[in-house]
Amino acid sequence: MKTFTLNDGNAIPAFGLGTWKSSEDDAYRAVKEALRVGYNHIDGAWIYQNEDEVGRGICESIKEGIIKREEVFVTSKLWNSFHAPEDVEKGCRETLTKLGLEYVDLYLMHWPVAFRSGKLMPEGTEDFWPLSDLPLSKTFEAMLKLRDQGLVKSVGVSNFSISKLEKMIAESGVVPAVNQVELHPYNPQEELFSYCSDKGIHLTAYSPLGSGDRPKFLRHKGESPVLENEIVKVTAAEEGLTPAQLLIAWAIDRGTSVIPKSANPGRIAENLAAASHTLSAKARSAINEIDTRFRYVDIKEWCLPGITCEGDNFWV
Ligand SMILES: NC(=O)c1ccc[n+]([C@@H]2O[C@H](COP(=O)([O-])OP(=O)(O)OC[C@H]3O[C@@H](n4cnc5c(N)ncnc54)[C@H](OP(=O)(O)O)[C@@H]3O)[C@@H](O)[C@H]2O)c1
Repeated sequence: MKTFTLNDGNAIPAFGLGTWKSSEDDAYRAVKEALRVGYNHIDGAWIYQNEDEVGRGICESIKEGIIKREEVFVTSKLWNSFHAPEDVEKGCRETLTKLGLEYVDLYLMHWPVAFRSGKLMPEGTEDFWPLSDLPLSKTFEAMLKLRDQGLVKSVGVSNFSISKLEKMIAESGVVPAVNQVELHPYNPQEELFSYCSDKGIHLTAYSPLGSGDRPKFLRHKGESPVLENEIVKVTAAEEGLTPAQLLIAWAIDRGTSVIPKSANPGRIAENLAAASHTLSAKARSAINEIDTRFRYVDIKEWCLPGITCEGDNFWV
C-alpha cells in the first residue's frame, strides 16, 4: 500500500476504512473484513460510539495473525467535550481502553470547537467554550504530551481552516502532522490544499464518496450526490472503474490519504482495488474541471461567531 510521509517522520497509508455511522456489529465485521482483504489503515473516533467493536475487529485480527499491530495504522479523534487540557488524556485513554490498544498511530482534534466538560452534544450556546477562553492551541499542546507519553504516535487536527491552523501554529509553535477534512470533486478546498502543502501538513480526505448515509440533520434540500455526477460516471467508465473507485483514485493521485466508509464486503473490496489504480492525465483533468461546489458535512449549529469562529463563516 502506498504511504505518505508525515512532517514528524511517520508514514500514513494512502487508503483506509472509515467507520462513522457503522453500527457496532457492522463496525466489527467491516474492520475484520477490511483487514482480511488487505487494508492497513482504520479511521475511527470516540464520538462514533463504536470504538469497542472497531477495536475488537483489530485485536482479533492481530490475534489471528492476519496483521501485526505495527502494520495497521489506527486513527482516533479527541471529542469536543475533552478540550480542557486536564481532560485530554482522559479522552485519549477512554479511546485506548475501548480499542484495546496501547497506542493509536494518529490522534486528531476532531473539531475546532470546544464543548463544556462532560457535554456530549451542546443544547445551547452556554454549552460551548468560547475559543478565547479555551484556545485550540492549549488543547493541541495537551495532545502533544500524549505523544511524549507514548499513547499516540502522531498528532493532528480535523476540520481546521487556514486561519485556525495559522493561529494554533503561531501560539503552539508546532505544525500538526495531519488535517483531516472533507475533500472530493465538489469540495476540493484548493486554497486549504495549497496552504497545507506549503506548511507540510498532510491532508486526509473524509466523505470522499459524498457521505450518502449521513444522518438527516446533515442533509439539505436539492443536494446532488457526487457519485452520480455525469463527468464522474463517464470518466470512471473510461478508466475501467466504478464511480466510487474513480473518486478514491483521484484523491490519492492528488496526494491526500482517503478513508471511504463501507460496511459491505463487496464495496470494501471494490474500494481497496481503487487504491492501486494509476489515474490517467485525461481523467485527472476531467475531474478537476468539475465546478459544482457542495459541502456534505456542515454542522451549521456550531458556526457561532465569537464562540467557534471569528467572523460568521466557520470554514474560513
Ligand atoms: N473528521 C471528521 O469530522 C469526519 C467527518 C466525516 C467523516 N469522517 C471519516 O471519513 C469516513 C468516510 O466518510 P463518510 O462515512 O462520511 O462517507 P463516504 O465514505 O463518502 O460515504 C459512505 C457511503 O458510501 C457508501 N459506499 C461505500 N463504498 C461505496 C461504493 N464502492 N459504491 C457506492 N457506495 C459506496 C457507503 O455505503 P455502504 O457502507 O453500504 O457500502 C456509505 O453509504 C467516515 O466514515 C469517518 O471515518 C471524518
